Amino acid sequence: MGELKRVFKTFVAYLKRPDLYPELGRKILKNTVNRNNAFKGKEKTNSWARSKAISQKEAVFNLFRIDASTFKTQYKDVLDKAAQKEKECPIKMGGPGALELIYYACEFSEGKNVVETGVAYGWSSLASLLSLEKRNGTLYSSDMPYLGQNGDQYVGYVVPEDLKKYWKLFRFADKESLPKIFNENQVFDVVHYDSDKSYNGMFWAYNQLYTHLRSGGVFISDDIGDNSAYQDFCEKNDIDTTIVEIDGKYVGVFIK
Ligand SMILES: C[S@@+](CC[C@H](N)C(=O)[O-])C[C@H]1O[C@@H](n2cnc3c(N)ncnc32)[C@H](O)[C@@H]1O
Repeated sequence: MGELKRVFKTFVAYLKRPDLYPELGRKILKNTVNRNNAFKGKEKTNSWARSKAISQKEAVFNLFRIDASTFKTQYKDVLDKAAQKEKECPIKMGGPGALELIYYACEFSEGKNVVETGVAYGWSSLASLLSLEKRNGTLYSSDMPYLGQNGDQYVGYVVPEDLKKYWKLFRFADKESLPKIFNENQVFDVVHYDSDKSYNGMFWAYNQLYTHLRSGGVFISDDIGDNSAYQDFCEKNDIDTTIVEIDGKYVGVFIK
């Protein structure tokens, strides 16, 4: 699809969703006056992340004292079924990220309330829900679906029906979803950020999520190498973070 056609299709999709108008305004600003915002500080942060990065298995052990290698065998059936659903899905979205990190963060914190931004197929949601169901907990997710490809109905597609009773999905942009989520629940055991990857979007949400994370809870962010928002946030708050490298991308994680 030509770039102009894609932009037009996305614009029309936004017009059909009045609840996403605030995000449309922000997107227009982002792509005009704030164009450099997405990659601000990227080079600096990549060399910082590269110098600190360890594997997911090492991070799970260092932070939580848990051996991460059992996750894939313990949940083989569920994960195989989810992979099959992803294959069958007519809409293409992002695949699984740091599933073990998310699952064991919930286990370690004995999570009852978890908040995440960015759902897509729902791989990260699945990882949290597998742990939360043991404690009858709740996952609060914020996701503004990929627009222009009619993807709404496929958001969370890999999450099995029996886990959905532990799940509250807020289908708005984070700037609208997060205040609604915090209205329902104030304090979280685990927070996971994986949505808007602009510097301003990340920095804004990190502050929100951190405020609502309990002491001893776990903070996780995907794609921290896209710009320096995560590094700047950690430095500003004097946070000693762990960095995990997965398929050439960096995930940040720390215990508050
Ligand atoms: C990388 S995917 C999430 C993947 C998911 N966490 C997983 O591990 O399977 C990013 C998702 O965030 C959504 N998104 C992007 N910008 C957003 C925003 N400002 N507010 C809410 N969701 C957003 C995208 O539409 C997409 O569904």
